[in-house]
Amino acid sequence: MIYELKLLSESDGPRAGRSPVRAVPAGFGLSYSRDHSKAQVLADGFGRLHTYLRISLVEHCNLRCRYCMPEEGLDWTPAPRLLTQEEIIRLARLFVQQGVSKVRLTGGEPLLREGIVEIAAAVGRLPGLRTLAITTNGLLLPKKLSRLKAAGVNLLNISLDTLRPDRFEAITRRRGLPLVLRAVTQALDAGYTPLKVNCVVMRGVNEDELADFAQWTQDLPIAVRFIEFMPFDGNQWDESRLYPYQEMLDALSRQFALERVADGPSETAKTYRIPGFKGTVGFITSMTENFCEGCNRLRITADGSLKVCLFGRAEVSLRDAMRGGASDAALLEIISTAIGRKRARHAGMQNLATQVNRPMITIGG
Ligand SMILES: C[S@@+](CC[C@H](N)C(=O)[O-])C[C@H]1O[C@@H](n2cnc3c(N)ncnc32)[C@H](O)[C@@H]1O
Repeated sequence: MIYELKLLSESDGPRAGRSPVRAVPAGFGLSYSRDHSKAQVLADGFGRLHTYLRISLVEHCNLRCRYCMPEEGLDWTPAPRLLTQEEIIRLARLFVQQGVSKVRLTGGEPLLREGIVEIAAAVGRLPGLRTLAITTNGLLLPKKLSRLKAAGVNLLNISLDTLRPDRFEAITRRRGLPLVLRAVTQALDAGYTPLKVNCVVMRGVNEDELADFAQWTQDLPIAVRFIEFMPFDGNQWDESRLYPYQEMLDALSRQFALERVADGPSETAKTYRIPGFKGTVGFITSMTENFCEGCNRLRITADGSLKVCLFGRAEVSLRDAMRGGASDAALLEIISTAIGRKRARHAGMQNLATQVNRPMITIGG
């Protein structure tokens, strides 16, 4: 689909501080009614500049985490409908040209994606990109770490919800804790410090391990990030399973002298250090204290949809636009329009639990 964009008058749209635009399907005779300055494309109506792009490379995963996806998997998108390597690189280039300075490759499990090293290398070469990150469950990292490092990956997040082998199997429905721990050690040895470790905390599942994770950071430069359990399609979220930030903080404060660290304006985690410890602990409080105000993130799903909010239903298919012949300028109009429609904040915990969204595994966190 090719789009022609027309400027609307200020009274036609809610966006403040920038010209509202509306996408109108059109023929091949493209006409563009406004100039794309970088700030215009990536800024929304609330003054937020989106400089961080998360690209999901694949929907599949080699784990079956209970909070993320059903045991039998999902109705996976057929391969021809996933973005090709060329399409991923084209989109990354386009966003980086507009001012995105951080790209994260995620999934599904991104290390399952054929060609991940080539994709990382191509994205890593884009002028203006400062951070190329990967979020992974770590299982395949020992095999691929050196090639990913050579390709330019300079930040790693490893997901790990428990330090106990039996519990690892209960949560992920697979074995593999020793491999993940090996990935952590190798990533640290390779210089990925601080190494971010994402831990989804659920009441009755692993909340009794907070102190073990914190203790882990005494001798290792690991930034553990405790994540509040979030609702997504098919993950049977229940408020009784949510272990809120304040309770985590209270529990840890009884054992450690936590000192708050000043976080950047777009930081998702509230970070604390423990005097004398090499690492830090942080809390991602999407449910009980949203951080939408400083949101600078955009997401592209493996099937090529742009999501401007993790919890929002609104999506626009950049894949369809590209396969319909859209020029870079036309893609930018679509992207700009989608960002312009981003809401001030997500719908709130109670509403999120009932609203339709994708399963987390097809968004990428
Ligand atoms: C969907 S995974 C994809 C990347 C990779 N497979 C991994 O395990 O890191 C990205 C992150 O989302 C987190 N996640 C998945 N479902 C979640 C949920 N319901 N609530 C909070 N975090 C969730 C995972 O723990 C992981 O850190």
